Amino acid sequence: MSDTAFTPASDGIVPSLVPSFSLYTGARIPAIGLGTFGSDHASPTQVAEAVREALSMGYRHLDCASVYANEAEIGEVLKDVFDSGAIRREEIWITSKVWNDMHGKGDVLLSCARSLRDLGLDYLDLFLVHWPFPNHHPPGCDVNERNPHAKPYIHEDFMKTWHQMERLVDMGLVRHIGTSNMTIPKLEMVLRDCRIKPACNEMELHPHFQQPEFFDFVKSNGIQPIGYSPIGSPGRPERDRTSEDTVDIEDPVVVAAAEKRGVHPALICLKWAVQRGQIPIPFSTKRRNILSNLKAVVEDSLTDEEMAAISDIDRNCRLIKGHVFLWEGAKDWTDLWDSDGRTPG
Ligand SMILES: NC(=O)c1ccc[n+]([C@@H]2O[C@H](COP(=O)([O-])OP(=O)(O)OC[C@H]3O[C@@H](n4cnc5c(N)ncnc54)[C@H](OP(=O)(O)O)[C@@H]3O)[C@@H](O)[C@H]2O)c1
Repeated sequence: MSDTAFTPASDGIVPSLVPSFSLYTGARIPAIGLGTFGSDHASPTQVAEAVREALSMGYRHLDCASVYANEAEIGEVLKDVFDSGAIRREEIWITSKVWNDMHGKGDVLLSCARSLRDLGLDYLDLFLVHWPFPNHHPPGCDVNERNPHAKPYIHEDFMKTWHQMERLVDMGLVRHIGTSNMTIPKLEMVLRDCRIKPACNEMELHPHFQQPEFFDFVKSNGIQPIGYSPIGSPGRPERDRTSEDTVDIEDPVVVAAAEKRGVHPALICLKWAVQRGQIPIPFSTKRRNILSNLKAVVEDSLTDEEMAAISDIDRNCRLIKGHVFLWEGAKDWTDLWDSDGRTPG
């Protein structure tokens, strides 16, 4: 990848051709974004160069987060892009997230200010609470490590964090706020008690993990789902792998739709996502894949039969289980996801 200043690619996609979804505020959000989590193997510079490539090809949506530790490098690329005059700030949807160690009083504003400084922006389009727990772990920690300060979801505490998020909207620092890694019971309580409701909910979504009930809940409450790990995260870190995990891009239904078109199965996952109504945010550092992922959601839709066949291959296979956020005394990772329909706290 090049590290020169910004020039639009001649083989890219005209951004106006990329589908978008309407939010309850009336704003439109591009229906595909570039993920920027390097999964512990792509360096901050590599991720930033992927952002440069993606913008040059017609992406107008970036999924960033302070914990990905690459916002400063992405900010340098954004500066080149804006200085070039080829793209204006308001043409790009930029999301960031507050990490779990910044939920305390005053910290949400601090975290937002840091992301804005690093990205070189004066507002974010969307700011998410990355996880609904103040639990964090050292980088690269073992999956079995437990932080003695980790706590289950405590609704009162979450709302203190959420009210700080609402203040950021009042201050004009963020245009929308949203949630991530939530469940129906948690989101029900947030909807009951919030002043500004979440515009988007970022959640794991791919053909083998469709979360149909939660997806419908989110949609029916006027919240836009953003689907992470849309290809089934084939490059995820070792700590997020277990022997029971299934592989979306090897599923015969996905492979058949890919073979019919002569494309990689990853592209079928992305077409399915947008046609279903969620926003996939695939990550890649490879020019070829970044471009084909964008093209996939613009060209050659899946048929109704293919969409129906994919809806039948859900395996309820959650890949990002969140072990490292467990508290002392928790049964296992399913406690994070309210699998009994209730949340503690
Ligand atoms: N909110 C949250 O808690 C949360 C959690 C996880 C992820 N996320 C967000 O979601 C983004 C995406 O998730 P993810 O990275 O876990 O999973 P993903 O996008 O499903 O998978 C990324 C992997 O797929 C490969 N890939 C991408 N396009 C491809 C193509 N066309 N053909 C073949 N392989 C392809 C990439 O490899 P190459 O580089 O070789 O192309 C990379 O290893 C993250 O970057 C992050 O922004 C958010």
